[in-house]
Amino acid sequence: MRGRDNHTSDISALNFDATAAKMVWLIRFTLLFCLCIMRMSALNLFPAKFEIAERQASVTLTCRTDKDKITWKREDANTIENILQSEFEILSGRDLTVIGLQEDLTGNYTCWSDSGLEDHTYLLLDKSKEATAFQINCTAETFSCTEKIKCAWTPNDLTGEIAFRLRNARDNGDWVSQPVDGVFYLPHSTDSYSEESERLLITGEAASTCCYVKTEYSFFLRDIIKPANPNISICSIKNEGSDNQIVEVKVEPPSTWPQPHSFFPLKHQIEYEIRHDGELMTIEWEDKSKDEVPGSITKLRVRCRDLLLLSQWSEWSEWKNKCMNVIYSCGGKNAFTCQ
Ligand SMILES: *[C@@H]1O[C@H](CO)[C@@H](O)[C@H](O)[C@H]1NC(C)=O
Ligand SMILES: *[C@@H]1O[C@H](CO)[C@@H](O)[C@H](O)[C@H]1NC(C)=O
Ligand SMILES: *[C@@H]1O[C@H](CO)[C@@H](O)[C@H](O)[C@H]1NC(C)=O
Repeated sequence: MRGRDNHTSDISALNFDATAAKMVWLIRFTLLFCLCIMRMSALNLFPAKFEIAERQASVTLTCRTDKDKITWKREDANTIENILQSEFEILSGRDLTVIGLQEDLTGNYTCWSDSGLEDHTYLLLDKSKEATAFQINCTAETFSCTEKIKCAWTPNDLTGEIAFRLRNARDNGDWVSQPVDGVFYLPHSTDSYSEESERLLITGEAASTCCYVKTEYSFFLRDIIKPANPNISICSIKNEGSDNQIVEVKVEPPSTWPQPHSFFPLKHQIEYEIRHDGELMTIEWEDKSKDEVPGSITKLRVRCRDLLLLSQWSEWSEWKNKCMNVIYSCGGKNAFTCQ
């Protein structure tokens, strides 16, 4: 019996080994398969070398090599194929002419000699005239080149994996293709003390595995101003505890806002919550950093905009409620700094 038992467990160990080997093979195969798919279906960065052409256009790709005998391959999301002379693809020396471009003729064209890969070009279908595929939105925290412009893009007609890049064409800027939290930071040369005479021109390009779209967005810096959020620096309480209690609030302009502040005045808005019914109220004031909020309140926050341009509002500051709590804990004291 013992022998037999041993024998069975040997067999099941063997079976197990075989199953494990199969599993490993399957996992490897799946990984490899996924890697292949991923390599092509995600264009995370703009292809380093690409050509664009409109639908139905003919485009000639040239293999940069000194070899005389070359062959071409095309790699798209699903396949790698050798290119043979056909009515769509005409071979002539180092040139390959693609006739009547459509999605199915896009992809990575590589040329090969008997010593290996010689050159490659990614061919994309230019759909810029077919649709407004995306929009660019930019804001600037200040009037000068001390801060970069922040731009974001929203797709209208684009789906799937898309590589995207932006540049400031007016100032001959470099392409920026790495966003930070979805925002592209573009340098520019605008000066806050002189009249801006020429509009900024922002060019955006998007590429999917098959297609390319370009959009331009042009504006004066002054039209996209959105200050950074201001900060509540001091609150102090007058007539504390009485019916006509007043909270005095002092606001610090955003640190990126240009100086002198008298020359670049801000308009402020405070939103506050009334203690007894939780209702939210707002007050606005212009061209000074201090104002008073009447009554007993639980929290408040502030935002600002350029007073002369009536720019976009900044984001709201964080809600401040610490100062209201301190009122109760430190009795008679009537001035303190918010945290
Ligand atoms: C196109 O193929 C070449 C050669 O294999 C490769 O170096 C390049 O990264 C490919 N381009 C894209 C965008 O996949
Ligand atoms: C673009 O800007 C407009 C206002 O100028 C704003 O309403 C919209 O939410 C912005 N879109 C994005 C994606 O930032
Ligand atoms: C806001 O004020 C607090 C305290 O005064 C300070 O620590 C913080 O850095 C300020 N934040 C900004 C954005 O200025």
